[in-house]
Amino acid sequence: MSSLKLIAISGSLRKASYTTALLRTLSAQAAAKGSDSIEIEVAEVADVPVYNQDLDIEPNPEGVTRLRAQVNAADGVIIASPEYNYAMPGSTKNLIDWLSRPYGKAALAGKPVLIITTSPGSTGGVRAQGQIRGTLAAIGAHPLGGAEVVIPAIDKKFVDGHFADEANLKFIQTALDRLIAEIELRKK
Ligand SMILES: Cc1cc2nc3c(=O)[nH]c(=O)nc-3n(C[C@H](O)[C@H](O)[C@H](O)COP(=O)(O)O)c2cc1C
Repeated sequence: MSSLKLIAISGSLRKASYTTALLRTLSAQAAAKGSDSIEIEVAEVADVPVYNQDLDIEPNPEGVTRLRAQVNAADGVIIASPEYNYAMPGSTKNLIDWLSRPYGKAALAGKPVLIITTSPGSTGGVRAQGQIRGTLAAIGAHPLGGAEVVIPAIDKKFVDGHFADEANLKFIQTALDRLIAEIELRKK
């Protein structure tokens, strides 16, 4: 297997986000596995403004230009998100909206995407997961099929800032393996 690069995008903007912290753990784990494995870069999204078509002209806002370039350069994408009021947060939808343009050249178009949703509650953000999947399908991305990665009770699963639930990590790894297989298949 060749070395693959994944860009990981969190839909939570808060500094102490559990969702973003989970992505940081996945990134650190991938790095610890060495150079023949995958690289997972966690995107910085705090400076991506609310989508406004008036701003979607050259030069784009700096955060948008950077994020689009990162997604364009990646072999695959991880989108992780909490759920707000039984739906994907506006912040998650906003990032996807930026990555759905320019029309015909969307950074997310054709990209295999692993969706992860999280919650301190018992449902793991599963309602947001369905919405993210539908939106990604609408813009020509390839949301990964199979068992959905939903992480319930996420606030109870960190030790010293690292996501430490072994069963969940094993489950996420099987999803990452499917994402990698999907990327390799589409490269042929
Ligand atoms: C406006 C708002 C609405 C929320 N609605 C839901 C919800 O519908 N379902 C749920 O599981 N959690 C809900 N929560 C709780 C979030 O899952 C929780 O705040 C979580 O920690 C946010 O993710 P983060 O830690 O990555 O920022 C809501 C939180 C906020 C602020």
